[in-house]
Amino acid sequence: ATENPIVVAIDGPAGSGKSSVSKQVARRLGYGFLDTGAAYRALAWFALERGVDTADAASVEALATDFDYAISLDPDDFWVRVGSTDVTSAIREVRVTDAVSGVARVPAVRESVNRLFRALVAASGRPGVVVEGRDITTVVAPDAPARILLTAAPEVRAARRSKELVTQDAATVADALRRRDASDSAVVDFLTAAPGVTVVDSTDLDFEQTVDAVLGVIRTVVSAP
Ligand code: DC
Repeated sequence: ATENPIVVAIDGPAGSGKSSVSKQVARRLGYGFLDTGAAYRALAWFALERGVDTADAASVEALATDFDYAISLDPDDFWVRVGSTDVTSAIREVRVTDAVSGVARVPAVRESVNRLFRALVAASGRPGVVVEGRDITTVVAPDAPARILLTAAPEVRAARRSKELVTQDAATVADALRRRDASDSAVVDFLTAAPGVTVVDSTDLDFEQTVDAVLGVIRTVVSAP
């Protein structure tokens, strides 16, 4: 157990491979893994459950004060709970994905989940934590020793997503991704690297190559296994 875990901050757009790459990097380093998007998704799920209109910022803000949320930091055993309900798979449903930008855009929500993220990292009991999201390198952990922006060309991201979502055709997936990029970037600019952030472009890399590229960046700044 370490009191001040090393933070590896990874940002990037939907379909960049951010979650699976971050998880694998965490495994390789013996670090924890924190999927911050899952918190926004869990709150969006909770809003749908309670019948709260996610377009109404004041209602979302009120709901957030009543949000009893727990998340695993174990890359080998990932789960998310709201109250006593396991929402690990429910938060990936399209209805949640469609509602999530509405909750992520509320400043008070962002502040409260960010406090939670910092507390989770501090209490992780791991030597380090890979934290992935959209504003980790800039807002959540701007002082992290390793900060990475993982990108990929839009058509490659769409192709990766459509492999995951076998139920939707490629054009629908590409369209949904474009709409989500647009609404997400209205909240945080995750497509440009802030000063000191290293870009890893995975357009021409496969999964293992991307993991190795990210590990390479981390090893230049922290002495990791
Ligand atoms: O990475 P994801 O698709 O699970 O993210 C879900 C949503 O949450 C996405 O629309 C953007 C938002 N998000 C955010 O605003 N800030 C973060 N740090 C992580 C996610």
